[in-house]
Amino acid sequence: MRLADKVALVTGASRGIGRGIAERFAAEGARVGILDLDAEPCQAVADAIMAAGGTALAVAADISDPAQVETAIGKLRDEFGTVIVLVNNAAIMPTGTLHETGIEDFERCLAVNLRGTYLVCRAVIPGMLSVGKGSIIHIASVTGMVGLPGLAAYSMTKGGLITLARSMSTDYAGRGIRTNSVSPGTIDSPMLHEFLAQQSEPEAFRAQYDAMHAVGRVGRIDEVANVCLFLASDEASFVTGANYTVDGGYSVKGDQPQD
Ligand SMILES: NC(=O)c1ccc[n+]([C@@H]2O[C@H](COP(=O)([O-])OP(=O)(O)OC[C@H]3O[C@@H](n4cnc5c(N)ncnc54)[C@H](O)[C@@H]3O)[C@@H](O)[C@H]2O)c1
Repeated sequence: MRLADKVALVTGASRGIGRGIAERFAAEGARVGILDLDAEPCQAVADAIMAAGGTALAVAADISDPAQVETAIGKLRDEFGTVIVLVNNAAIMPTGTLHETGIEDFERCLAVNLRGTYLVCRAVIPGMLSVGKGSIIHIASVTGMVGLPGLAAYSMTKGGLITLARSMSTDYAGRGIRTNSVSPGTIDSPMLHEFLAQQSEPEAFRAQYDAMHAVGRVGRIDEVANVCLFLASDEASFVTGANYTVDGGYSVKGDQPQD
């Protein structure tokens, strides 16, 4: 029960890595807000957590919309109290080199991955300041640290989140809020499967991704959730402004996928 009595909010929690983090937090005693675009899948995750003995509330919102974000976080605050653990996990991943990325895809990527993170932080931080504690985790990516082809806009936002965690840590560390980023390598998730489906030879591409990681395989969702749990818990009381790679050694190995 490493998060007993903590209220947590996980964005993009209706599937994939976000769902895994939310379920892990709930299993460790947190009361968890499940935020994602659509109400039904959020409720399904909240129901699954409650069926497993945890406590969760579905709060659907588009994180790029300020009014929806305020409403969702207000609802969570009314039901569970002040959010003191926030995981900014929701993101989209348009593909393409920079000049091939359409302006709508480019702007939507910024609106969700960066503006959305800003809006959720803006809604949650005053509560954290009022109680003098909080842990904010931005889910970034190794693409924010090393170059990967065909992911220009996405990588730009992920680099931004790493920098943002560092910058926020200097603003808030003295007031009890720790801010860190987590940079996964390739993780077996719906986002990966959608990306592979766009490739001409998905199986071969997947094998390349396995080989690019020093441990010889892509990661699992629970391996990201474990690190988030540590950063959310009081065990990480002296950790702020850090970027934790959870990448099976990808960023130190530095291979690139071949065409
Ligand atoms: N899967 C990987 O290999 C990998 C690697 C590195 C980093 N990441 C990062 O991990 C996080 C989760 O990735 P995933 O693989 O679980 O992806 P995913 O696509 O399965 O999940 C992302 C979730 O975010 C939600 N979302 C998208 N736009 C939203 C919006 N405007 N408002 C609210 N919710 C919104 C989606 O509905 C979805 O449920 C992302 O930040 C991603 O960039 C993933």
